[in-house]
This record gives sequence, structure tokens and C-alpha cells, in this order.
Amino acid sequence: MTINIVTSGSGLIRILCRLRTIFVFDDSDTEDFDPMVPQSTVLTRLAPIHQEYGPEPQKMRETDHYKAEYVQHFVEKWDELIDWDQRAEGEGDFFINHLRERGAQRVLDVATGTGFHSVRLLQEGFDVVSADGSPEMLCKAFENARHRGHVLRTVQADWRFLNRDIHESFDAVICLGNSFTHLFKERDRRKSLAEFYTVLDHDGFLILDQRNYDAILDDGYQSKDAFYYCGDNIRVEPEHVDEGLARFAYEFKDGPTFHLNMFPLRREYTRRLMHEVGFQRVETFGDFQAKFDNMEPDFLVHVAEKSYEE
Ligand SMILES: C[S@@+](CC[C@H](N)C(=O)[O-])C[C@H]1O[C@@H](n2cnc3c(N)ncnc32)[C@H](O)[C@@H]1O
Repeated sequence: MTINIVTSGSGLIRILCRLRTIFVFDDSDTEDFDPMVPQSTVLTRLAPIHQEYGPEPQKMRETDHYKAEYVQHFVEKWDELIDWDQRAEGEGDFFINHLRERGAQRVLDVATGTGFHSVRLLQEGFDVVSADGSPEMLCKAFENARHRGHVLRTVQADWRFLNRDIHESFDAVICLGNSFTHLFKERDRRKSLAEFYTVLDHDGFLILDQRNYDAILDDGYQSKDAFYYCGDNIRVEPEHVDEGLARFAYEFKDGPTFHLNMFPLRREYTRRLMHEVGFQRVETFGDFQAKFDNMEPDFLVHVAEKSYEE
């Protein structure tokens, strides 16, 4: 991977890039640059500005396409889409409580995005490593964390090859924000879950969420707009849904519309895959509640435990 070293205004922006691990520092405000005390961060210009889906966007059903979907402009708008404050209110302490109840301290966030959960967990005192396959997202997450007084430990890693790049074990892996839906091939889903399983301690657990695609496929799309995508400046709607594709449009009131092509994971299918790769117990929540009517929730959260029960 190549990252350009760029200069800006008064100072040199230093980008230290180890293979698949990115640190971004800006020493423009300091006389003596100390890489351990970054002052602020900048985004690198790595990805194209526009999304490309080809002449027939509904035919784009490829796992690897996610990097081309999170173009820089979309990444810049992502935090307007999720609205950190409203999202924090919507999910409350759900994830924090589950992590604490199970005694987790070391957490691997495999779908860091712009850093919402990584930062939240750092603020709550967890040890967090923040991974993502998109360097654009990681740079934005690093910047967001710095603005809140934290330095993220970032690793660029694709889930399918996670253990090639991550050489520690964790009490918990989190894969949140309807991210797992980006995998289009079943073998990619199995491989990724197996990689998550491997990086966990013997009694570790995975928390993975998804849209309630059963409801979307069987009853049509409706949203309470209370969880995940909470921004006021945005309309989120599926443009096309079939058993192999959910193509969502993210329309910002002040201009751009972006898209994501995703695989519509049915609830029991996701749960079955988790069991099949070795997770012993999988508990599913609907909009953060243990009891729910299957078609009601907008989002589902699966908590999958590794510990072996005879
Ligand atoms: C929908 S965003 C969610 C981001 C964040 N968790 C949130 O809730 O705001 C999905 C994220 O998953 C990442 N991702 C998708 N497929 C991936 C893969 N195969 N390996 C690693 N990261 C992947 C994307 O780069 C993106 O940052």
C-alpha cells in the first residue's frame, strides 16, 4: 500500500506507514515533533472521489467492492449520517454492558469505520485495537479520536485475512454498524467468521449486528430512524432489494447521494453460519431488546460465544 507524504501550510505532515498499519501526525503546531504526541491529523487522498458501480449497478455484487464504495467524499459525510450523539443515545450502554458483564477488557473493533465504537470503548476504559479494510475510514477514525483526546491503535486489515495482520488475542471482537453485510460470497462470510473466532481467547465472544433483512425482504422497508443512521440531514432508502442484493441510497439534503450494495443476510442464516464455524451459543437481540417480534426491529445484534460447553 502506498501513502503519499504531503506538506500543508506551515508544517510538514508526517505519515508513518508500516505495512498495513497507519499513523498520521501533523507537526504544524509544534517546534519539536514527537511522533508519540500527535497534534492533529489529516486525511490522505488515497481513494477516488466518486463511487463507481458500472453501467448496471444492481449487478455489482462483489465482496472486494467495499473499498471503492467508501470514497473519500462519502467517508467525510459518514458522521453526518450516523450522528455520534444521537447514535450514542439510541444504543445507550447496550454494548458496554455486554462487554462488562462478560468480563471483556481487550476488544478488537474489526469494522472501525469513522471510529464511533472504538472511541466510545476507549472513553469507557477498554483496551481497543481498531481495524478496518478501508484506509480512508481508518484515517478519519484516527482524526476523530484525536479530536476527542485519544490515539487509536489502527490496523488496516481485511476480515478474510485478519490473522495475517493481527497477532494478538482478544476478549471480544465487535463487528458493528451493519458491516458484515458487505460480504457477497458465502465462503467470504465463513472465512471472516473463522478469522474472528481465531483471534478470540478461548472464552471470548463476538458481537455482530445487521439490518433486519427478513423484514425488508418479506414486508418491505420501514425505519424508525432511531438507531444507527440518526442524522437529520439524510434520507436512507433501499433502491433495490432481492435475495442477493440490497442496494441502499444515502441521500444528503445538501447535495450528494451515495450508494452501498450489500448482501441481505437473513437472521437464521447468520446465526447458522456462526454456529457452523464453532461459536457454541448465539443470542440475538432486536433493536437492543432480548424479546422482540421478528419483523419489528430495524436492527439485530448477535452475541456469539466461543467457550465450549460439554
Ligand atoms: C457500514 S460501515 C460501518 C462502520 C462503523 N462500524 C459504524 O458503525 O459506523 C462498514 C465498514 O466495514 C468495513 N469493511 C467492509 N468489508 C470489509 C472487509 N472485508 N474487511 C475489513 N473491513 C471491511 C468498511 O471499510 C467500513 O468501514
